[in-house]
Amino acid sequence: MIKKFPSGFVWGVSTAAHQIEGGLMNDWTEWEQTHATTFATDAPSKFAKTSPVWEQIKPEATSPANYISGIADDSFHKYREDVGLMVELGVTASRFSIEWARIEPKEGEVDQTAIQHYKDVIAELRKHGIEPWVTTLHRTLPAWVAKQGGWANKKTVRDYGEYVTKLAEEFGSDVKFWMPLNEPVLNVGGGFVVGIIPPGKKNIFTALRAYGNMIAAHNHAYDILHKHIRDSQVGCAHAAVYAEGFQNKWYNNALVALLHYLANWKFLNGIKDHVDFIGIQYYTRGVLKLTTKNFLPSIQNVPMPGPRSDLVEEIYPVGLYNYARMIWQRYHKPIYVTENGIADRNDTYRAQYIKDHVAEIHRAIEDGIDMRGYFHWSLIDNFEWDTGFWPRFGLAAVDRQTLTRTLRPSAKVYSDIIKNNSV
Ligand code: BGC
Repeated sequence: MIKKFPSGFVWGVSTAAHQIEGGLMNDWTEWEQTHATTFATDAPSKFAKTSPVWEQIKPEATSPANYISGIADDSFHKYREDVGLMVELGVTASRFSIEWARIEPKEGEVDQTAIQHYKDVIAELRKHGIEPWVTTLHRTLPAWVAKQGGWANKKTVRDYGEYVTKLAEEFGSDVKFWMPLNEPVLNVGGGFVVGIIPPGKKNIFTALRAYGNMIAAHNHAYDILHKHIRDSQVGCAHAAVYAEGFQNKWYNNALVALLHYLANWKFLNGIKDHVDFIGIQYYTRGVLKLTTKNFLPSIQNVPMPGPRSDLVEEIYPVGLYNYARMIWQRYHKPIYVTENGIADRNDTYRAQYIKDHVAEIHRAIEDGIDMRGYFHWSLIDNFEWDTGFWPRFGLAAVDRQTLTRTLRPSAKVYSDIIKNNSV
């Protein structure tokens, strides 16, 4: 049966500066330099037994060069080509991020050429009738901000506010949709609890401080953007941390409730009065089981049967519906899926993945949940953080030698969904 979407439903693609632009200097580029060799050495233990494409990715995954973002996709120079791909797809919106380290490479020094660059990108999008959706910070910090302690330091909230004020002044008339921070919860969890991303700390007290500061930063940005841009729409770009309890046992469900509280509700409760919409970024689910390890309680994420992405993530579209429903019941705000996608270098699952997730959004709309848009992650293959370039998330493949972009067959499927406004 054909499922028609409401008119005005937003169809978009999502990208982030550090992952595509190239030529950056920030806390991540420093992290890459110090960790590339370890990432390459650790790749077999992480993926050799689990990734369905290990034999194909092995040469890349075990090479330190894979973990250096470097020129990335050179989208800084090739953005017109990227917009050309969006035009081919027929999207009505592009979510991208502005890089703070470009705008303010040194404290208090604004680089006008960087401002002009993003003005050019926005103009190019608008020329083709594509609405810009701006994330003001997608994971990375300028080196000088990282040096002062990053999100663990309250001063960063003030500095970030000044940066956002500058963006509002410069881009205010051209950008209506804003998302201050991408997935703060993952920044805090990865950077301050498990220590696998910058700044690589493992300290629960620092983590709580950073969490509080990121919530404060979001709320501060909301106030600034609304003060400067009268009809702006400011939302979040929240990682949909979604899990279910193994075999529906009460103790596993209790674990899930705790995880959902820490990773979702604690953050969203803190910003709920400072969002015009809630952006959710859904990829997969976890299935949690309480178990023991060395006689101590431990949590296991139980692998479920069924196909997996190249990054070994379960494909579970129903989770998107369930998650959106929880968000709607709690907050009653318009919801956009600001990211959803799959690492799938052979394009085996992507078309079906898109259709199934979009169908779940349709089901949610039919059930009265106010879902207004879908942004696919990602437009092009890109630099996937601590796994580097080998995971391929793009609707378009990028040749790593020539940086030539080529739309994959699944792009046609997404394009047809957009054209027909239905799945
Ligand atoms: C992040 C992206 C990332 C994607 C795929 C999201 O959590 O916002 O930067 O590339 O997931 O892993």
